[in-house]
Amino acid sequence: MHLPRIIAHRGASAVAPENTLAAFRAAAAAGAQWVEFDVALTSDGRPVVFHDDRLDRTSDGTGLLAETSFETLKHLDAGSWFAPTFAGEMIPTLEEVLETLETLALGFNMEIKPDLGREVATAHTALTITAADWPEASAPPLISSFSRIAVAVARDEQPQWPRSLLFDRRPLDWREIGQELKLTGFGANQQHLDRDQVAELKDAGFRLTAYTVNTVERAQILFAWGVDAVFTDTPGTMVPACATFGTGHQ
Ligand code: G3P
Ligand code: MG
Repeated sequence: MHLPRIIAHRGASAVAPENTLAAFRAAAAAGAQWVEFDVALTSDGRPVVFHDDRLDRTSDGTGLLAETSFETLKHLDAGSWFAPTFAGEMIPTLEEVLETLETLALGFNMEIKPDLGREVATAHTALTITAADWPEASAPPLISSFSRIAVAVARDEQPQWPRSLLFDRRPLDWREIGQELKLTGFGANQQHLDRDQVAELKDAGFRLTAYTVNTVERAQILFAWGVDAVFTDTPGTMVPACATFGTGHQ
C-alpha cells in the first residue's frame, strides 16, 4: 500500500470547514496526496460525510445526525460556523465526496463512523458505494474505524482493500484482533503513543498511522519512531516540511 506521510484530516480542516468539499479542495491546494474523512448514516440510511454524533458544532442544525433525515440535512449550512466566507457549504454525501476526490486526484482514508447499532449497515453502505464509484485502476482506499464490527465488514466485503483499526489507547488484545480482522495496520491517538508501542506494532508487521498531528516537530518524532503517516489539520505547513521524509511503507 502506498501511504503518503501526510494525510489531511477531514480535509484541510484548519483552513476550511471540516469534512466539506471546500476542505477537500483546500487539501489538494495545500499539496496533500490523501485526505481522511468520516462517513455516517442519516436516519433514513444515506451515507454522508460528517464527524460528530450531533449536528450542532459543525452546522446550523441541532440534534443527532442519526435521527435526522437526508431531506432535512441537505438544507443545513455546514460552512458558516467556520467563517462567513464558507456560508452555503453543505454536508456532502459520500457520493459527492468520492466524485470530488476523483476530480482532484486525491487518495483517501475513509473512516466508518457508525452510530451504535448500525455498524454493519454503515460499513456495508459506505463500502458498496465506494466500490461502485472508485475506479478499479486507482490505488485502493484505506478503510478504517474505531468499530471492530465495521472493520470486520470491510474484511469480509472488500478483503483486497487495506484496513486499519483505530484506537485511543492501544488495546491489550492488539495482536489477536490484528490477526482476526486481517489488519493492514492500526491508527493511533498520537498523544498516548510511545516509542516502545510503535516498535512492537511495526515489528509485528503493521502499518501505523497517528492522529492528529499539527506540528512538524511532533511529526518528525513520530516518523523517527517508525510511524508511517500522520493525520493533520494543517497540510499547508506539514506537507512541505515533511517532504524530505519520503513516503511511508510501500
Ligand atoms: O482516522 C483518524 C482520526 O480521524 C480519528 O479520530 O475523531 O478525528 O475521527 P476522529
Ligand atoms: Mg476521522
